[in-house]
Amino acid sequence: MAFINWNDSLKVNVDAIDIQHQKLVDIVNNLFDAMSEGKGNDVLNDVFNGLLNYTVEHFATEEKLMEQHNYPKAEFHKVEHSDLTRQAKELYEKFKSGQATISVPTLNFLRSWLNNHILSSDKQFGEFLNSVGVK
Ligand SMILES: [Fe+2]
Ligand SMILES: [Fe+2]
Repeated sequence: MAFINWNDSLKVNVDAIDIQHQKLVDIVNNLFDAMSEGKGNDVLNDVFNGLLNYTVEHFATEEKLMEQHNYPKAEFHKVEHSDLTRQAKELYEKFKSGQATISVPTLNFLRSWLNNHILSSDKQFGEFLNSVGVK
């Protein structure tokens, strides 16, 4: 059983975004699996670092779509992205310096971090994109 189950409730109905969200879910699941299997810090570091890099890439994709389609709530959404990036980077730095471990609470945090943003701001953005014909 995956740590985060991808299902239709997470879809924002824009293919380019849904594909990237699935990949983010996969990476968090990989991190959970690596932790559960007792993998070493080098493996956890690689997966966590991969999550950060892909997050940055994903946010850039959404922000480009916001600009292309003059999304009225772009500024608010971008602030959320920068807050989320900062939170994940802080957690990663704590992990790297040994102040935090990859644990169930850490993974729970990452799951909420991802789910809450998708279910609120990204869904709204998806509805807007659908309304201007982007699917
Ligand atoms: Fe997103
Ligand atoms: Fe977003």
